[in-house]
Parts: sequence; C-alpha cells; structure tokens
Amino acid sequence: PKPNGDPTAMLMKSYACQRRTPLKHHNSFLTEALEILSQNAEYNDNEGRSVAFRRAASVLKALPRRVRSMQDLRCLPCLGDHSQRVIKEILEDGSSREVESTRQSEQYQAMKALTGIFGVGVRTADRWFREGLRSPDDLIRTGQQLNREQQAGVQYYDDLQKPVTKAEADVISDIVEKAVHAVLPGAEIQLMGGFRRGKEVGHDVDFLITHPEEGKEEGLMPKITNWLKEQGLLLYQKTTRNSYLEKMDGPARASSNMDRFERCFSIFKLQKCAVSCKLSSTASAEDVSTACERERPDEHHSEASGWRAVRVDLVVSPYSQFAFATLGWTGSKLFERELRRWAGQEKHMSLSSHALYDSKQNLYLRAKTEEEIFAYLGLEFIPPSERNA
Ligand code: CTP
Ligand code: MN
Ligand code: MN
Ligand code: MN
Repeated sequence: PKPNGDPTAMLMKSYACQRRTPLKHHNSFLTEALEILSQNAEYNDNEGRSVAFRRAASVLKALPRRVRSMQDLRCLPCLGDHSQRVIKEILEDGSSREVESTRQSEQYQAMKALTGIFGVGVRTADRWFREGLRSPDDLIRTGQQLNREQQAGVQYYDDLQKPVTKAEADVISDIVEKAVHAVLPGAEIQLMGGFRRGKEVGHDVDFLITHPEEGKEEGLMPKITNWLKEQGLLLYQKTTRNSYLEKMDGPARASSNMDRFERCFSIFKLQKCAVSCKLSSTASAEDVSTACERERPDEHHSEASGWRAVRVDLVVSPYSQFAFATLGWTGSKLFERELRRWAGQEKHMSLSSHALYDSKQNLYLRAKTEEEIFAYLGLEFIPPSERNA
C-alpha cells in the first residue's frame, strides 16, 4: 500500500515496537530538539506531554533519510501539532525558539544537574529547585539531608557524569563473570540495556544473571556482592530481594514498569589500567589484573585518578522468566513502553519483565526466547540493535 499514492512515501507503523529503529539515524538535529521538550515536560511532571514528544522523536529516528521539508512528514504517525510546529521552525530557521529557551532556562539546567545525581528523581529535584538549590555543590554547601544512595551520588558525581565506554563495559563484564562464577558455577550472565543494543557509550552497565537449574539462582545477589566487596571492587551497593509472586503480581501488576527481580544498584571501582590493558593486550579475562600489575605497576593504588566510579545494575532472574527479563532489560525505555502498550491495547495481554498473560484465554504464555514472545504478540521480531526507539 502506498499512502496518498506517493511512491516515495514509506509505510510507518505507529507503535515503536512495530518498527526498526537503528542507533545511528538521519535526524538527530530534530530528535535532539524534541527530546529536550520531552525531558522538560518530565521535569514538570507532565507525563503525557513527555511521551508525546518522545514518540514523535522516535518516528523520525526510524526514517531512512534526513527530513528536508514538511512534505517529508506526510503520512507519518505520532506527530502532533506541537511537534510539527517545532520541526517546521527548525527546518525554516535552523532552530526552535521554544527549544533554545528551554535549553537555556534555569529550571531545565538545574533539574538536569539535580536529577543527574544517582538516587535523585524528579520529585526530589523539583523540591530542591523550589528551595533555590541548583547543583550538587549547593546540596553540600547547604548541608541537605541525603540518603545513602544520594550521598554516593554526590560523592561520585563527576565520574558518574562521564559516559561509560564499551571498553569499560567489557572490563566490568569480565569482573561480573568472574564474581558470579566464583559463587555459582554454571550461572549465565548477559550484558543488557544500551550496550546490548549496540551503544558505544552508556550511563551505566546492566547485567542479567540466571542459572539453568531453576532455584539455584535464589539468594545469589548477596553472594556476588560479598565477593566483589572482598575484592575491593564495590564503592556502593543496594540489593533488593525478589518479591515476585505469580498469583499476586502477574496480570494485575504487569503494566507497572518496575519489575520485582532480585536486583542490585551499584557503583563499581574500576581500575583505569585494566581498561587500557584489555584494549592493548590479548590477555584473557583472568589474566587482565595480573598483566596490569606487570606492565604498569605504578598506576596501581597510586592516586585517585588511577580508578573511576561506574554505575552497574545487576538483576537475577529465574530461568523460566529469563526470556521476559531479557526482553524487559534490553530497552530502549520507549521500546519497552510501546511493547506493553501494544500488548494491552492490541492483544488484550499484559507483558512484564516476568511474564506474558493472555486475558482472553486466562493463561500465562511460556517462552524460552525473545523470538517466541514477539510471535505471541503478533509482532515481527526486532533484534536488539534495532530497538533504539
Ligand atoms: N529498567 C527496568 N527497571 C528499572 C530500571 C531499568 O526495567 N528500574 C530497564 C529499562 O526499561 C531498560 C533497561 O532496564 O530497558 C536499561 O535501563 P537503563 O540502564 O536506564 O538505560 P539504557 O537503555 O541501558 O541506557 P543507558 O546507556 O543510559 O544506561
Ligand atoms: Mn543502561
Ligand atoms: Mn538511562
Ligand atoms: Mn541501568
């Protein structure tokens, strides 16, 4: 089918989970602008508006070429009046006044700085903003009450602001693998989140851990964190126990995007030389630390600049839920949101990171792979590298 009889128009599906969205696309000059408005709406607690701008940006990411005129936008879904106005202004004048004034605004900049602190959400940041606080330094200066997570967030703020590279993620992967196998041989570890989608940098590194013998994974997290602590690799960690019960949490809670796996939000202490070592040598995972000692002994335990803090998320899933957990922790956040919306609105199913429930048949649909879940949902399989919605 060719909309409006235009042979060059492509058919753009309206849910992000029906489309392929590559990491690199042709319209960053527009999507960055729309995402600023989305972010600002989120800072103002306007979720509907925030999602609308994010969906509009996401459609432009899926286009095969750069948008040159408003004509190119005919037949595209998810572009509301406001988004179109912004796009038109950028196409005509090179920038949008609304976007630029938002970008420069004191509120936007302060909210960005404050929510950028690990452990600080929009609500807390907004309260601080209204009290006249603008930055992490202001929190320290005025002696604000901070919880343990926020204290770590402020303490390691500069490091945590720096993007995590793929090379750093690979070193962290080696460490996590070593830790997990030391406490539970046979466990499986998978890199998740942005790095699984092919990103070259991230704000953290995400891992999903399971064991083929269901039950073996129970209580695994404290063992992993203890091992890491003994090695001096953890700067901060907070573990939450698994609280998922199929009967209580399945269909009723599936729409909530917070899952109930055993999880750990942590901050790792990463030796910088381990990264350069891994990049420059063919040393295996086990050899990296010793190879480092040999090649650059002076860089160890020297000064604060010998290591950096890196945010790491660890999640443990029972084997029977692993496919759902994998799908749920790969992202992007909009892709996940759209998958759940598709399931509910189009299929009368509820999808979570634990399960897929079919409300018509009144049953849980079992799956061993992501492919099976897409098939249940009546969706074409989209590989992780094309879930960058
Ligand atoms: N996620 C989740 N529950 C949370 C936090 C995250 O289910 N409390 C999921 C998100 O839906 C996402 C994935 O975990 O699919 C990774 O989240 P996050 O690390 O925040 O984002 P990334 O896509 O990895 O991007 P970044 O590079 O910024 O880390
Ligand atoms: Mn991540
Ligand atoms: Mn993120
Ligand atoms: Mn994460």
